[in-house]
Amino acid sequence: SSFPAVLTCKAAVAWGPGQPLVIEEVEVSPPQPMEIRVKVVSTSLCRSDLSAWETQAIFPRIFGHEASGVVESVGPGVTEFSEGDHVLTLFTGECKTCRHCTSGKSNMCQVLGLERKGVMHSDQKTRFSIKGKPIYHYCAVSSFSEYTVVHSGCAVKVSLAVPLEKICLLSCGVAAGLGAAWNVADISEGSTVVIYGLGTVGLSVAQGAKVRGASKIIGVDINPEKSEIAKTFGITHFVNPKECSESIQQVINRITDGGADYAFECIGDTGMITTALQSCCQGWGLTVTLGVPKVNPELTAHYGILLSGRTLRGSLFGGWKPKSDLPSLVDMYTKKEIQIDEYITHNISFEDINQAFTLMKEGKCLRCVIHL
Ligand code: APR
Ligand code: ZN
Repeated sequence: SSFPAVLTCKAAVAWGPGQPLVIEEVEVSPPQPMEIRVKVVSTSLCRSDLSAWETQAIFPRIFGHEASGVVESVGPGVTEFSEGDHVLTLFTGECKTCRHCTSGKSNMCQVLGLERKGVMHSDQKTRFSIKGKPIYHYCAVSSFSEYTVVHSGCAVKVSLAVPLEKICLLSCGVAAGLGAAWNVADISEGSTVVIYGLGTVGLSVAQGAKVRGASKIIGVDINPEKSEIAKTFGITHFVNPKECSESIQQVINRITDGGADYAFECIGDTGMITTALQSCCQGWGLTVTLGVPKVNPELTAHYGILLSGRTLRGSLFGGWKPKSDLPSLVDMYTKKEIQIDEYITHNISFEDINQAFTLMKEGKCLRCVIHL
């Protein structure tokens, strides 16, 4: 086939922090060496897109990092993908050759890890422009566009038989939560779990804990509307801090006879990390952080919390090696061993993408899937 050319398509461009996205005609470069150009089919809105849109300084920009699509063309050197392949995009990639990728201990690829400057990993440039003026990327994915260019190490091939409009959630939130429960915490049967924040991330930790046979799965959220839906993902006890007369850690310590075996921070509020640590037990209590704070990223905690044997562990993307491990999660979904559809509370057309931002800001959704 002939070498791919620049194409124009519609993209939802953020022109400044907190400003509603505008659907614009953008030019999309052909894929460069080892890159692929993807026709985005579905993309869901994650809290991290919203936080970055509200607080970061890189604009104009195309957000979106939880997505599925079809390969439209491949750049020089790409042998792993061809036109028509179905893919999930990866906001943190896997080169399979660096020290981390070959360590067997880490998913923090040194070559294709989280990209923070709004450009492509390989040449620090953008693949989007409007009348020649660069439009920046987000996490080297930028799925709020009909077409996007990603590194071939930042996509994973999936079977043509799985519904792209559902499995896009495995590209970030649902996989991150399941991985935190299974890979990072490795929750054991009969144990007690407390989860701070019952969005898609927290409720995916809950699903993971339920699969492992946790005896108590306590969900903490300030939104009372989360109480009912949380039960369907395995939450056995719902705690609303606004309705407690004692501290949250006192409540958790009482329910769990001295602290949970595992605590998970799925809000993105570093202040809650101390609370999470105080609500897991001495000796072996483990707190896992998944949230991405938008303000006050520093942690403070009394050293005695750790001296008494607790552990604090961070994780990105639930510890999954994205290319190597995601196919097994897609398989589990096909065999109905994991739930994904239940997190999709809204389906939104591309023109109405700003509605997804409003719903998430107001705490009215789990995942909005945007159909391109
Ligand atoms: N105490 C308890 N719950 C809170 C608090 C608080 N102080 N503040 C917010 N919450 C709850 C919200 O009510 C909401 O139900 O945390 C939940 C967060 O869910 P979402 O906004 O849907 O976010 P989600 O996509 O699940 O992501 C959670 O993980 O990947 C990161 O950037 C992401 O930091 C974010 C976190
Ligand atoms: Zn690597």
